[in-house]
Amino acid sequence: MVKNLNEKKVISELKILAKLIKKHNIHYHQNDKPIISDKDYDDLVRKNNKLENDYPHLILKESPNSFVGSQPLNKFSKISHKEPMLSLANAFNQEDIKDFISRINKYLNNFKYDKEFICEPKIDGLSLNLTYIDGKLKYACTRGDGKIGEDVTQNILHIENIPKILISHFPKYIEIRGEVYLSKKDFLNLNNKLSTKEKFSNPRNAAAGSLRQLNAEITKRRPLKFIAHGIGYSSKKYLTISEFYNDLKLWNLLPNNLTKKFSTLDEIIKYHEILERKRSSIEYDMDGLVIKINNFEIQNRLGTVGKNPRWAIALKFSAEKTQTLIKSVDFQVGRTGAITPVARLEEVNLGGVLINNATLHNFDEINKKNIGVGDLVQIQRAGDVIPQVTKLIEKSKKSINQIQPPKNCPVCNSPAIKEKDEAVLRCTNNTNCYAQKLGQIIHFISKKSFNIDGFGEKQAKQFMDLKFIDNVVDIFQINQFRKEIIKLEGWGDLSYNNLINSIEKSKDVTLEKFIFSLGIRYVGETISSILANEFISIKNFISSINKADLLSNVDGLGPKAVNSIKSYFSSKQNLDLVSKLSAIVKIEKVKSSSTKGFFSNKKIVFTGTLVSLSRDEAKHKAKIKGAKILSNISKNTDYVVIGENAGSKASAAKKLRLNILNEKEFLIKINE
Ligand code: IVH
Repeated sequence: MVKNLNEKKVISELKILAKLIKKHNIHYHQNDKPIISDKDYDDLVRKNNKLENDYPHLILKESPNSFVGSQPLNKFSKISHKEPMLSLANAFNQEDIKDFISRINKYLNNFKYDKEFICEPKIDGLSLNLTYIDGKLKYACTRGDGKIGEDVTQNILHIENIPKILISHFPKYIEIRGEVYLSKKDFLNLNNKLSTKEKFSNPRNAAAGSLRQLNAEITKRRPLKFIAHGIGYSSKKYLTISEFYNDLKLWNLLPNNLTKKFSTLDEIIKYHEILERKRSSIEYDMDGLVIKINNFEIQNRLGTVGKNPRWAIALKFSAEKTQTLIKSVDFQVGRTGAITPVARLEEVNLGGVLINNATLHNFDEINKKNIGVGDLVQIQRAGDVIPQVTKLIEKSKKSINQIQPPKNCPVCNSPAIKEKDEAVLRCTNNTNCYAQKLGQIIHFISKKSFNIDGFGEKQAKQFMDLKFIDNVVDIFQINQFRKEIIKLEGWGDLSYNNLINSIEKSKDVTLEKFIFSLGIRYVGETISSILANEFISIKNFISSINKADLLSNVDGLGPKAVNSIKSYFSSKQNLDLVSKLSAIVKIEKVKSSSTKGFFSNKKIVFTGTLVSLSRDEAKHKAKIKGAKILSNISKNTDYVVIGENAGSKASAAKKLRLNILNEKEFLIKINE
């Protein structure tokens, strides 16, 4: 279409503005050295936006509004893993490993299997999934929430030990997992080149920051490395990890050269000690020893508990420790009202991280450890957890020992109480305490919940203090305050638009995440997942809460969680909040089991002792076939599986004339 003179002028002006804004974005975001003031920058953006508003048909492909900083707005695209990417449970000592092995034996009902354990360093990096189809690298994506990750293919193409092509007998389709990391040396070199504001606090964060750069050019300059440690979906079925690792070596995808195979607890513990001693001389940060069952068939039988496999565990190295003085003690109030004493410390460097605060856990612990202000104490830090005060080293002569529990919440002044059998003191004002409300909002926007990019603790506090938000629903109405926000220090059109985009994006949420985000006490990731799978939709979940015994009948829910859920939903304020939220966001329903077969959507209760497999394995098998496992019998139960020495449940089942299966019948049906 022929454009008139005025339109040509507008296009040329838009082009100049796009170029200028891009240039200043690079100065600001990449070089960390803006060369114009925020106000001048915002003027350019405003000018551009006005033209785009007046002439929407002339908006350029390279419009600054389709970019964040210097990068395309859409960020990384999402990719579903064919097999979930799991996490590892932690063990801290020999006893924990003994328990891990006995749990396996119990689950397998003492089935005899090759007791071979693959042991290798737990690298403190980021997990990456590489998908090879017909021997060609198709995608690389991050772990994400374990089910869906981000496509970072462009960013890993330069990593030397990730081959683009697999040579010799590769499977048609294979997901190969491993760890991306930055060596300690490269981390220090990188930090030396970065401005104080840009510096990373440890190699892991540096690797994450480098991998998740939207500008692949920046990632290219960072010497990331990769070590393979696992397999997802594969069209070739391997018998053991050892067999899989042999193939990896043929493809130049190297597993860790410190990998060993052991059969006894003693060997495992000895190797853990050896590696811990070697720790400082290894080129990467490692935080423990991963121990995994070699045989894949046994791994499959064992399955998972929540997001952790039953067949693997990480035996952590001891936390890094040091000593420092307690300057004062403050009380912090969390989202569930827990009042935690926090020690303000004389700043100390612990494994490269500067520490100023450490938790004292609760008042019973303070008394037990006999800790007071002015004392010299030991502190420790492990992984990403908050540093802790572990013991008293030397009492100060001037020690002020009266760290007394406050009678009232230090934030809202409501009475603080300690419930029976609890070590924690709590603020009783569950609906209106500033600290609890802020804690709820921070939990709601965090990575495992709504995961709103660019919205963290700092912004939550700023918006709450300015009364832009008071609860989580208000987050979705923050655009009412656009005018005020863009004028705030550190904010402008660009950062405001980014925030709105992240909020919009977060609205697509799974039921599991939605339940977790509510921050109900005792309802963590595992319980949220159980609830989502049980109730399928939020409507069904809420309507089930007060129906007699529906909740307590869900397998895997203990009385503490049940009571906490009931108490949360007994508040009108909470019910209102959940109903408003459900109207704003799009909660994905859990797809009901598509398995067709005898146990599909059947309610089953197990009672008595099974002989050829454990109760846990039997439940797991039934769940895979689409069954719902309940703990109590009712007239709605479809099948009761009765093992040896069954008691009252068996007689109740007979009285109610329910369908009964013995172990043999159950196994025949389940294997059909
Ligand atoms: S095996 C069941 N082996 O640790 C999961 N993981 O907390 C299979 N990791 O996300 C993981 N070094 O990224 C395994 N040698 C190793 C590892 C390792 C680091 C990471 C992995 C995972 C996380 C689990």
